[in-house]
Formats: sequence, C-alpha cells, structure tokens
Amino acid sequence: MRFLINYALIGGTGVEHLELDGKRAQTIQTPYGLVEVEVGSIANQEIAFVKRHGAGHAVPPHLVNYRGNIWAIKELGVKKILATAAVGSLSTEYRLGELVLLDQFLDFTKTRIQTFFEGGTQGVLHVDLTEPYCKDLQKTILTAGKQNEIVVKTDATYVCTEGPRFETPAEIRMFQMLGGHLVGMTSVPEVVLAREQGMCYASIGMVTNEAAGIADHPLTHAEVMDSMKMLSTTVAQLISDSLKLLTPVQHCSCVKGNEELGKF
Ligand code: HPA
Repeated sequence: MRFLINYALIGGTGVEHLELDGKRAQTIQTPYGLVEVEVGSIANQEIAFVKRHGAGHAVPPHLVNYRGNIWAIKELGVKKILATAAVGSLSTEYRLGELVLLDQFLDFTKTRIQTFFEGGTQGVLHVDLTEPYCKDLQKTILTAGKQNEIVVKTDATYVCTEGPRFETPAEIRMFQMLGGHLVGMTSVPEVVLAREQGMCYASIGMVTNEAAGIADHPLTHAEVMDSMKMLSTTVAQLISDSLKLLTPVQHCSCVKGNEELGKF
C-alpha cells in the first residue's frame, strides 16, 4: 500500500536538481506507460517530484508524457501541483530573471493530446478553463513570496508553442498582438490535464530570455539554461516557502474539473 501524497512539483528546465529530504524513487504504472517519480519532503511536506523532461533533459517539450505524468501524480493522491516553466518574455512588463505566475494561456501547440477522455467508454469532457491556473494556489505562492521578500509578478498570458524550435520574430509579433506576455513550450496540455483530474495547478514562470526578435542576439538553449541556474535558488526557496503554507483542502472549484463527465 502507498501513502497518499498531497502535493506535487513538476519541474522543468533548471529545477531538475531540487533536493528532497528522504528521497526515494518510485515507478508508477499508468495507461500511458511507466512514469518515474521522486518522493520525499521539502519543508517537512511530503511531495512527489516529476521531472518533466526526464533525467538529463532527454525528452523535448513536444514528446513529454503529459498524460502519464499527471496520471501518476493523481494516482499518488495529490491535490495540488506546483509547476515551474522556463519562459521567454514578449513584454517589457516581465523582465529577464523575474518570477511570474501564469494567469491565462494561448495555445499554439499542434500535436499533443489534451484530454484523458477520448470518447467511447472513457466519455467526453469539455473542461472549463475560465481560470486555467488555480487562484487559491497562486494566492498561497504570492503570500509566501511576500513573507520572504521574493518578488513574484502576476497576470501574465502565456503562449504555448509546439517547439522544440524557438519562434521567429514574426511569430513573436503576432503573439504580442494577441495579448501574449510570455512564451514557453510546456504548460499546455499539463494545466488542462491537471484540471481534468480535479487537481489545483499553478505555474511559476521563470523569465530566462527576451523572445526572438526582441533580444539583440540569436536565442540559444545555453542562454535559457544559464538564466535558469541563476534563478534556481530563488525558485527553490519560493517553492519551499509555499509548501510551508499549503493545506491539502481544496476550497476552489478545481476539484470539480470533471464533474460533467458522463452527464451528456
Ligand atoms: N520560447 C519558447 N520557449 C522558451 C523560451 C522562448 O523564448 N524561453 C524559454 N522557454
């Protein structure tokens, strides 16, 4: 028998090395294949840590096993997910080296399955994403930031691209016109699948670069990694401070994410 774990961390580029106390590896069987999860504690809270890109950043954004990862986390009993995401900035409101909570998304992915419910016996679900990222969980992160003098910005619209390539400057100008502030490659469908499973999900964007055409130089993965390294201590602190304040009770409506399943 497994103990239930209330919280999960999905870490992307740069936070793969976050240290958990009493860390042990678990392999979870899911309908989408085996998923490796680290279980241990941060700030005395037991958490499940999923490395989005696998060990050694081996899996590119368009091939991440999003459904497997979310299924495995749900299987462990998780109620609330903290995620991190490397992002490029399209806006002078969000600068290199800042931490920003994602608020809305524009989806420009192309090949990713965005649902657990593919019809037939699984049913069909049109999940509500009026507030894609959990407001309650964001409040906790903001409180933790304030208490510990970590600046966390808000209200960013995230553009999710398919990747793994970076964008063209023309695409970035289009995203700006559409109201995008940040660009990354991983938050969709992760946030959607978490809602389908009734879990709270918030994502801390880590601004690693100015987007293509805004920066005065070509983009490189090395630049993104260097920025992540710079931000990794602060984001680890913010995660730890947030976990100290979290309770497993879900007062929000995220838990009702799939209540319409089977009703039509
Ligand atoms: N574009 C897409 N994904 C990213 C970027 C970017 O500029 N920076 C970090 N992840």
